[in-house]
Amino acid sequence: MSLLIKNIKELLQIRAHDVLKVSGQEMKTLPSLKNAYVFIEHDTIVDFGIMENCKYENVDKVIDATGKIVLPTWCDSHTHIVYAGNREQEFVDRINGLSYEEIANRGGGILNSAKTLKNTTEEDLYQQSIARVKKVMQLGSGALEIKSGYGLTTASEIKMLRVIKRIKKEFPIKIKATFLGAHAFPKEFKDNKQGYLDLIIKDMIPKIAKDNLADYVDVFCEKGYFSLEDTEQILEAAKEYHLTPKIHVNQFNAFGGVALAVKHKAISVDHLEQLSPDDINALKGSDTMPVALPSCSYFLSIPYTPGRQIIDAGLPLALATDYNPGSTPSGNMNFVVSTACIKMKLTPEEAINAATLNGAYAMGISNQYGSITKGKKANIIITKNVPSYNYLPYAFGENNIDQVIINGAQI
Ligand code: NIG
Ligand code: FE
Repeated sequence: MSLLIKNIKELLQIRAHDVLKVSGQEMKTLPSLKNAYVFIEHDTIVDFGIMENCKYENVDKVIDATGKIVLPTWCDSHTHIVYAGNREQEFVDRINGLSYEEIANRGGGILNSAKTLKNTTEEDLYQQSIARVKKVMQLGSGALEIKSGYGLTTASEIKMLRVIKRIKKEFPIKIKATFLGAHAFPKEFKDNKQGYLDLIIKDMIPKIAKDNLADYVDVFCEKGYFSLEDTEQILEAAKEYHLTPKIHVNQFNAFGGVALAVKHKAISVDHLEQLSPDDINALKGSDTMPVALPSCSYFLSIPYTPGRQIIDAGLPLALATDYNPGSTPSGNMNFVVSTACIKMKLTPEEAINAATLNGAYAMGISNQYGSITKGKKANIIITKNVPSYNYLPYAFGENNIDQVIINGAQI
């Protein structure tokens, strides 16, 4: 099966094989070609260039992209897309004045989702989750990281990870799985925190590793959740099973989680709404990707991650949705890209780099995803007719995607 996309108004994010992330000033550039083509065979980008040099004639399918922009699909490196039910009542409670913290302290929040998940069968959880996966694919996401963390018992955490594994198997998009048993302390362990840490370390991690259910380990390192010491215990235990850290830090408080994550060679540190100069220094010279989640800031009305400051310090930055029932009931990467431009003052070039190549890096797949590169997977967004790529973040809330191609096939 071969596919030619021709007469592309502008083809974005063309990169050489060895560019696995972009940092600082480099993020201002989005390499592109005008009046271009892309040639795909099976699931792979085989060639691209300007129309003048297009030599492909006998192809199985041709898409004429006159007036349209073509770019790699979004790589959403932080989601909790597998969950049961919703929490719209808490949304209303927050409108009426309760804070996210107050809701959690009353047994709402993550514990509320864990209760619902416990009472949901694996099949039902799968069906609820794939409805969301289908939606985000239509919105241009071609790779997703998915976390557990609404189980909080060995059985329920494994149930979530099995659902993620099934999605991995049955959907064409690239999926990475993260074990987030350390998302909240269950009520039964309120006065025995070490008991829950032991359950994670001695029971959950070995079982999950044995069945190869996770690629990464995550911890919600935050006041009222998991301390630096708790986080370190879990990361040490996970290391024995070759689970790389990818952790929630600095959502509400900055107290050294970033440096700890860097010390443990985390692939990414996510949230960072509160960021200190020490955090920036810890990230300098590391291989850890900072990840901002602007839809979470939007929904909870909390500060936005200082993305401008991160990039201006010479660091890379990735953007992801955080799709989850409590803080971000949205998996729309187009909104994330817009919001990063509008609220975090990223340029469209920076935001698109952050949502494609750097997102792929934050999930360890930028050798195969995140750019238009010969040999990479053919995961491609074709926009509607738009005046320029700046129009995509500018026209926030508008759906300007015409077609999504995943593994070389239109969805
Ligand atoms: O990334 N911060 C921790 N976890 C999620 C929210 C969890 C929830 O409220 O269900 C987040 O925002
Ligand atoms: Fe999250």
